Amino acid sequence: MDVTPQQMMQQTLIALTEQYQALPALNIDLTRGKPCSEQLALSNSLDSMIAGNYSSQDGVDTRNYGGIDGLPEAKALGQWLLDAPIDNILVGGNSSLTLMSQAMLIAYQFGLGGEPWQNAKFICPAPGYDRHFALCELFGIKMIPVAMNDDGPDMDAVEALIGEDRSIKGIWCVPKYSNPTGAVYSDEVVERIAKLGQKAGAEFKVFWDNAYSVHDLAEPAALSSLWQQAEAHGTLDNIVMFASTSKITHAGSGLAFLATSERNLADIKRFLGFITIGPDKVNQIRHSRLLNSPEALTRHMQAHADILRPKFEKVVEVLDRMLSGKGVAKWSNANGGYFISVDTAPGLASRTVALAGQAGVKFTPAGATFPYGKDPQDSNIRIAPSMASVDDVEQAMSVFCLCLKMAALEQGLAKFN
Ligand SMILES: Cc1ncc(COP(=O)(O)O)c(C=O)c1O
Repeated sequence: MDVTPQQMMQQTLIALTEQYQALPALNIDLTRGKPCSEQLALSNSLDSMIAGNYSSQDGVDTRNYGGIDGLPEAKALGQWLLDAPIDNILVGGNSSLTLMSQAMLIAYQFGLGGEPWQNAKFICPAPGYDRHFALCELFGIKMIPVAMNDDGPDMDAVEALIGEDRSIKGIWCVPKYSNPTGAVYSDEVVERIAKLGQKAGAEFKVFWDNAYSVHDLAEPAALSSLWQQAEAHGTLDNIVMFASTSKITHAGSGLAFLATSERNLADIKRFLGFITIGPDKVNQIRHSRLLNSPEALTRHMQAHADILRPKFEKVVEVLDRMLSGKGVAKWSNANGGYFISVDTAPGLASRTVALAGQAGVKFTPAGATFPYGKDPQDSNIRIAPSMASVDDVEQAMSVFCLCLKMAALEQGLAKFN
């Protein structure tokens, strides 16, 4: 007797469920892009960089108060990361996210190079970084999702929105090895972003979070300079750039950087002058001595890449081996950054993540890469392989593929009912 497609699917699901139930007890976490301890160890010589010499290159005693915008040698590091003039750089504490939240707070409460924001809206290319979206939610900023393409945000949609709604006050951008898709903005997209301010008004800010500017896994991708483009189009007041050493040195005790126009910088420094008598300059000299030239930075990042590359390759290898040609998902093959992004067929992401979670393999919750945690297609899953060992990545990704196949069969069978 012929086996019907429904029976075939049922039998396959039973076989996969048996495999799933026979899995060993697992506890693997691929949720967040944290450096692993081997990566952190690359910067342990930060400890020995002071050796009794607390003096900056200009003779400042870094142990004392002062220097609200940072030491010149620390600004130089920010300049290499952000591709912006040294005089426009500010060096913050250990988290660029803090600088982003402060820029948002200033824009809302006091004005950042313009009038204070009221009932602001933000354009949010999605899938994107969940903590950007969380900041918008914190501030009550309405998020408007636009599609994230392989060359950056859908700029036709972005320009149309800006043309029709003056309450749009910003856009989130992760221009190089975007979180989570790994996309690098094309030259055309960078130029179109630089021009947005011409239409959007002085209060509009491009939040340019260049978190992965030097985090290449292969040949570095070229990103055109937003600063130069904004200068050419007269929109420097519309851009605020961010970076940090979180994934360069020690994630919890690094330096963060911001670059923006003199006008915006004055508003930011004024605010900082109220909340601190100066940043941690000892950490600034520690970092600028460890990463004392663009070449030293490049060598350091190559050592990171050597640790990370096998993990990224393993993710893609398992996906290719287990899912290629099955029509249930497609995935990015990022050349840098911290993430691989999987787009399942619609409606499968939550179930896949839930099944994997029950088997002891944790992924970022489905939906987290979209504003308000709502992926309209229930499709995108972010994979962060940096913390796990290569063997654990292999194990976790095999479980992931098994769970995705089960979810697809369950969905297919549901259609017969
Ligand atoms: C795009 C992006 N921006 C910022 C951060 C966090 O940066 P920081 O540690 O400097 O706050 C992350 C961390 O994953 C990130 O992916």
